[in-house]
Amino acid sequence: MTQSDPARGDSGLSPTDPALLATPLEFLSEEHLRQRRICAVIDALADFGTVDRAAGESVLRFVDAELTLHMRDEAEDLFPLLAVRCSVDDGIGRVILGILGDLDAAADLLPTVRASLSLCLQTGSDLSAKDGVALVRFSGHVRRHLVTENAILLPIARARLTKRDLQALSRRMRARRGLPPDLLPPDTPFPD
Ligand SMILES: [Fe+2]
Repeated sequence: MTQSDPARGDSGLSPTDPALLATPLEFLSEEHLRQRRICAVIDALADFGTVDRAAGESVLRFVDAELTLHMRDEAEDLFPLLAVRCSVDDGIGRVILGILGDLDAAADLLPTVRASLSLCLQTGSDLSAKDGVALVRFSGHVRRHLVTENAILLPIARARLTKRDLQALSRRMRARRGLPPDLLPPDTPFPD
């Protein structure tokens, strides 16, 4: 493994800046960039079969501290808001169902991902072939959800959600992270 391998867990792997929660759709979009990078790390771990400590710990921190919150932000807050604001012509019902399918599948694989990486870090053992397959399936579902959201859902959300919706979404996401409500910057370009 070289210094530039994505599985080393160095540059570009820090959590999304909480200051972006003031503009929640930008926060989610930025988290998708982060998820794309983590998925590359996971794929590299599965490919090498040997768990680099820094990379393995980065993935574990990500799944424990970030991904679960992201899934709840979307399933509990973003998707219900979109269901209210979008018309049948927007056709997002089926899109959301597809995304939820990927998020549920990723959530089902989470215990295996967590246990396999933890075992490798504790014992220095390599990933089993079965666990490697689970890691790749997990990253595939996470990646597919973010591709669909970036291409379809977030552009619709930017067009349909009101300033009040975005403020409520921001408050909910901040509360989920134990942060107090925050005033939005006065020049935040939200639609009314
Ligand atoms: Fe997402």
